[in-house]
Amino acid sequence: MLKYICPALFILLMLCTISEAWQPETCKNCHLEMYEKWNASAHAESLKAAGGSVLNIEECTKCHLESSIKETWGREDVETTIEPVTCEVCHNPPAEGYDAHISEPSYYAPEVNFSAEMCGNCHRGEHHPVIEEWNEFNDTNFNITTMSSHSEPTDIAEPYILGRDKSCVSCKATDGAIPNLEDPDVFGLNLHEVPEPSDVSEWRIACVACHEPHSAGYWIEDDVLLCGNCHNSEHAAPDGQTTRVLHPQWEMYNGSIYDTGIHPIDIGCSNCHMAMQEYNDTTEESAITGHTFGFKPEILFSSNATNGCYDCHQEVFIPVVEAKQELIIGRINDLEATRINANKSLEELNGTLEYDAALTDYNNAVFYLEAVKTDGSHGIHNMEKASDYLDTSGELFDSVIERQATISEPGFELILAVIGLLTALWIVKKRK
Ligand code: HEC
Ligand code: HEC
Ligand code: HEC
Ligand code: HEC
Ligand code: HEC
Ligand code: HEC
Ligand code: HEC
Ligand code: HEC
Repeated sequence: MLKYICPALFILLMLCTISEAWQPETCKNCHLEMYEKWNASAHAESLKAAGGSVLNIEECTKCHLESSIKETWGREDVETTIEPVTCEVCHNPPAEGYDAHISEPSYYAPEVNFSAEMCGNCHRGEHHPVIEEWNEFNDTNFNITTMSSHSEPTDIAEPYILGRDKSCVSCKATDGAIPNLEDPDVFGLNLHEVPEPSDVSEWRIACVACHEPHSAGYWIEDDVLLCGNCHNSEHAAPDGQTTRVLHPQWEMYNGSIYDTGIHPIDIGCSNCHMAMQEYNDTTEESAITGHTFGFKPEILFSSNATNGCYDCHQEVFIPVVEAKQELIIGRINDLEATRINANKSLEELNGTLEYDAALTDYNNAVFYLEAVKTDGSHGIHNMEKASDYLDTSGELFDSVIERQATISEPGFELILAVIGLLTALWIVKKRK
């Protein structure tokens, strides 16, 4: 009997054993690059926060200690040891365990997870409500037809992308963003590692679309290039044919007072689009991390913000900014009216020798107008460029209208008629 019980007990004991978490040093042999990045990151230092007191306070351990593996993956098989945020916190092992991965790496590969929720297990709560802000799509007030957000899945917002090629995936999905951002050049896209739409696993612009997870840093340090790699118009140019201009924020921003040094401090995309505020110990007011990426002047220009604008601009600056935007909005509306007139003129020119030149002008006029409209900042990204574009658009629309007017002017027709009559008389005379 005993010879059956003993092995059974032994197996039971094996099953009950809580295994120790894996040390990043085990992974180092084969994944040196990841290890070194991780080892220098804030994640590797997570035990030192608050002078190490996070170790003793139970409330803190679930995010600052390795025991957070339980929190992230619900794993009860792991012993609580004093480790920082290690590899295993983000890489759930294969079902057979890490031993299996180490002996047959390709056959038993651990999970690679792009989801924002994985990071959001810890990057949440009133001290750093990153996931809550990022996940606007989860908000009941989110209107899918009028609003747009990094958390809105592209396959829901723009399902036609699914039938298109890889180039869309490079900005519309986290799977594509990672190989896209490998090259910091805005048009340096290397498409060969970008997956086909059918192979995408994360259609949202999740945390790891922007953040390199091992260093807990960024794929591209310069935020203008980071944001600009997706927020650009993909080479759209006024070539007489292009009338569709999508998201030209990077092109608009270039040459603005913020990047040429005219504005007293350099301002990149995140300085304006990520208004931030620290957690307030006295009022217990929640921190703000800027992860909705919207322009929030009431936070940005308040004394609580950590963006540093308040030194020179206080709340009174909000109406100043609005007035600048109103000016541009007014001009856009005027040009829309001009556009209708220019369109009528263009139709009337159809069939004349003037038509091709007029069409080129018309299309370029639309290009400049659309660029200012689809940029979405109503001039704030670059007041000078926006004004110049609208000036040019107006001049080009006017030239179309003038062309048609010259042709249909009564004086012009009279001259034509007189010439015609004289020619006819001359022919008649000759025939005699
Ligand atoms: C003996 C070498 C070796 C060790 C040790 C090792 N790995 Fe790997 N690992 C590999 C190889 C090789 C691959 C590539 C497998 C493939 O894609 O075919 C890989 C792939 C991975 C991947 C990516 C899987 C994917 O789908 O792309 C992750 C994540 C990973 N390892 C995590 C770990 C972690 C965490 C540890 C430490 C607990 C570890 N590895 C230890 C060799 C190793
Ligand atoms: C819900 C998960 C979670 C809990 C619980 C938590 N933290 Fe944190 N803590 C984080 C994250 C995530 C960060 C990084 C925040 C950032 O930089 O945006 C952080 C950062 C910190 C920092 C700042 C380090 C720095 O960069 O200055 C301190 C200090 C800190 N935590 C202390 C504590 C203490 C003390 C407790 C317990 C009372 C605690 N935390 C509980 C997730 C948590
Ligand atoms: C904060 C979460 C996090 C931590 C900690 C982390 N990783 Fe990763 N890892 C990821 C994510 C997300 C990806 C996918 C994105 C990418 O390729 O970087 C990934 C990708 C990988 C890959 C696949 C890379 C590729 O090109 O396919 C390997 C291998 C890997 N991690 C190993 C490790 C090792 C080893 C450690 C510990 C030293 C570690 N990771 C720590 C989140 C993490
Ligand atoms: C187990 C909890 C946990 C998970 C999961 C986690 N983090 Fe963290 N993260 C932390 C803690 C704690 C810190 C703060 C460490 C410190 O400063 O003491 C931190 C720091 C950071 C920082 C640096 C903040 C700074 O102040 O420098 C970034 C960026 C970051 N995490 C991004 C991510 C991303 C992206 C993911 C998902 C791929 C992720 N984290 C997953 C707990 C976590
Ligand atoms: C669209 C790009 C983008 C996405 C998506 C994104 N972040 Fe960030 N994140 C940034 C930028 C840029 C900053 C730096 C803001 C600054 O300091 O001006 C930042 C700052 C942070 C910080 C603070 C770092 C520090 O040094 O204090 C943490 C932590 C963080 N992000 C975590 C996350 C997590 C978790 C998610 C997903 C829920 C996420 N981020 C999604 C771009 C992004
Ligand atoms: C990987 C590509 C990518 C990166 C990097 C990126 N974005 Fe986006 N962003 C998008 C996409 C795609 C959308 C539209 C989401 C949708 O379809 O709803 C978007 C939407 C936005 C919106 C909302 C636009 C609207 O019309 O309401 C803002 C604001 C924004 N991004 C700002 C930023 C800022 C600031 C950065 C840099 C910190 C950044 N983005 C980085 C891809 C990106
Ligand atoms: C050292 C002082 C200083 C700081 C700090 C500063 N600004 Fe400015 N800013 C100026 C001055 C001076 C002008 C030009 C005068 C004006 O238009 O009122 C200006 C103009 C502007 C304009 C109008 C630009 C235009 O095209 O007319 C905006 C928008 C702006 N700042 C935003 C910001 C933001 C956002 C921050 C914080 C990230 C910031 N500023 C920080 C001094 C500053
Ligand atoms: C000086 C501040 C400032 C800077 C710098 C800035 N933006 Fe903006 N951005 C704005 C304002 C203001 C709006 C208009 C938002 C509104 O009125 O609701 C805007 C609008 C946008 C929108 C459209 C949002 C929508 O709701 O349609 C996107 C996308 C965007 N910006 C991305 C960027 C990118 C990418 C960069 C960097 C290349 C950048 N911004 C730099 C202030 C700024």
